[in-house]
Amino acid sequence: MSSASTYEDYLRHSDEVAGWVEPGFFKTLLQVEDMVRAHGVTGSVAEIGVHCGKFLLAMALASGDRPAVVAVDNFENGPEIRASLERHVARFYDPDRVTIVESDSMQLSSADLLAKLPSRAKYFSVDGYHRAEFVINDLMVAQDVICDGGVVIVDDYLSPLVGVTEGVTRFLLQNAHQKIAPFAYGENKLLMTTIIKRRAYFNHFRKLHPKLVSKIGGYLCAGINPDDKWFKTGWTSSAS
Ligand SMILES: C[S@@+](CC[C@H](N)C(=O)[O-])C[C@H]1O[C@@H](n2cnc3c(N)ncnc32)[C@H](O)[C@@H]1O
Repeated sequence: MSSASTYEDYLRHSDEVAGWVEPGFFKTLLQVEDMVRAHGVTGSVAEIGVHCGKFLLAMALASGDRPAVVAVDNFENGPEIRASLERHVARFYDPDRVTIVESDSMQLSSADLLAKLPSRAKYFSVDGYHRAEFVINDLMVAQDVICDGGVVIVDDYLSPLVGVTEGVTRFLLQNAHQKIAPFAYGENKLLMTTIIKRRAYFNHFRKLHPKLVSKIGGYLCAGINPDDKWFKTGWTSSAS
C-alpha cells in the first residue's frame, strides 16, 4: 500500500497496527470530523503517547486534508516500537508530514510542539503516561497547541487506570488557566474543546443520543455510544 491510504483503507488494515483504540471510536472520529469541518476548523494533528501510531494515523487520515502531524513518545517500550511507528507511517501516510519527537512529555513545552507544526492542532490526543501529574502537564500542553474549536481526546478517562481520571478532574477543578472543557465521553475517550465551542459540540453529540447525558467536572457531557462497554452509571436523561 502506498502512502496515500484513505481512512477506509486504513480501517481495513488497522488490526495490523498494534495499539489501543476501541473499534467503535473509529466511527466516532468521523462524526467528530464532520462536526469540526462544519465549524470551519482545520489544522494539524498531534499526539502524546503514540506507541505504534494506531490512533495517530486514524486522526491524520480522518482529517482528509493530509495534515502535518507531530508524534510524541519516549518509546519506553524499546526502539522496535519507534521502528514500527515509522513503518506504519510510511505504509499508510507520509513520512514527510510526520515529525516524531522522542521525549518525555514532561520535558516538552507547547512552544516546542508549535515550532514543529505549520498550524495549531485540530486534534490533539493525550495518551502518554497515565499518572495524574503527567496527564495535567499533557493537558496544559494540548490546550496551548490546539486551535479554536480543535478537539483534545483523552484516553482512559474513567478506566481502571485512575491516574487519568484524577488528572482530568484536577485539571478541570483546580486550574485557573483552563482553556478547554469536556463535551462528550465514550469508548474510553473523553472529548474536550475550547470553551467557546464547548456548548455547540455538546449539543451536536447530544442530538445523536439525546438520552445520554452526564456531568464531568461540572460540565454537561454527551455520551457517544449507548452500547459502549465503558459506559458507567451516572449517565441520565434528565440533565438539561
Ligand atoms: C497506551 S500507549 C499509547 C497508545 C497509542 N495512543 C495507540 O494509539 O495505540 C502509551 C504510550 O505512552 C508512552 N509514554 C509513557 N510515558 C510517557 C512520557 N512521560 N512521555 C512520552 N510518552 C510516554 C509509552 O511509551 C507508550 O507508547
